Amino acid sequence: MRPSLVGVGVGPGDPELLTLKALAALRGADRVFGPTMAVDAVGRAESIVRQAAPDVVVERLVFAIVRDDGARRAAHEQAADRVVACLEEGERVAFVTLGDPNVYSTFHHLAALVQRRRPQTPVETVPGIMAFQALASTSGTVVLDGSERLHLVSAVDGPEVLEVPLADPEAAIVVYKGGRHLPALAARLDAAGRLEGAVFGELLGLPGEQVGPVADATSSPAAYLACVLVPPRREAPS
Ligand SMILES: C[S@@+](CC[C@H](N)C(=O)[O-])C[C@H]1O[C@@H](n2cnc3c(N)ncnc32)[C@H](O)[C@@H]1O
Repeated sequence: MRPSLVGVGVGPGDPELLTLKALAALRGADRVFGPTMAVDAVGRAESIVRQAAPDVVVERLVFAIVRDDGARRAAHEQAADRVVACLEEGERVAFVTLGDPNVYSTFHHLAALVQRRRPQTPVETVPGIMAFQALASTSGTVVLDGSERLHLVSAVDGPEVLEVPLADPEAAIVVYKGGRHLPALAARLDAAGRLEGAVFGELLGLPGEQVGPVADATSSPAAYLACVLVPPRREAPS
C-alpha cells in the first residue's frame, strides 16, 4: 500500500454517528492524527474516536484557533511537516475532523500544505455526518422538501450573514459558527418572521448538549459548537 492521506469525518459528537467506513479508515491507517488547541488537550474529534474505537491511538496536531494569521499559518506548516515525515516513512495517514471533512474543516488546508511538500501523496476523504443533520434528527425538523433550497452559512463575522438567505423564504437556513451571536441571530429571524420551527443545537452529542427553539435563545450567547436550523416557510397543510 502506498503512503496516503485520508481526511475522516467522525460526526458531530455522538460516537454512534461515526460510520463503518470511517471506522475502517481509522483501523486501516498506520497513524491517526487529530486536531487540538493544545498538545495536552483532548480534541473533540479525538474524544469521539476514543469512545467509538478505543483501540485507535490519536496523535495530536496543534491548530491554534487564533485571529493572528501568522500564528495560524505557522501551526499549519508545523502540522504538515509532521504528516509529511510519517508519509516519508511509508505510512498511511488519517486525519480526523468533526462532522464532515469537506465542510468548514481544517483538513483541506492541511492536505494542500502536504501536497505542496509531497505532490505524489494521494488524498481522499471519508464523509461524516454533519451537526445540522444531527440537529434535524434530534429536533424532528424536515430540512427540505420538493424544490426547497438550503443555505448553509457561517456567522463567524456576525448576524448580517442572514441577509441573503432571508430574502429566500422557501429556503432552509443552517447557521454555523454563530454561537456567540445567537441572541442577535434570533432577533433577525424574528424580524423576518422566521422564528417558527427554528431550532438551535449546542454541543450536539456531547456532554452538556442543549437543543431548543431559537425563540427561547434570546438572552445569552451559546458555545462555539452550536448551530441553528431554520426550516423553509411552508403553507399549513389544508
Ligand atoms: C469548524 S466548523 C466544523 C463543521 C464540521 N466540519 C461539520 O461538517 O459539521 C464548526 C461549526 O460546526 C458546527 N458544529 C460542529 N459540531 C457541532 C456540535 N457537536 N454541536 C453543534 N454544532 C456543531 C458549529 O456551528 C461550529 O461552530
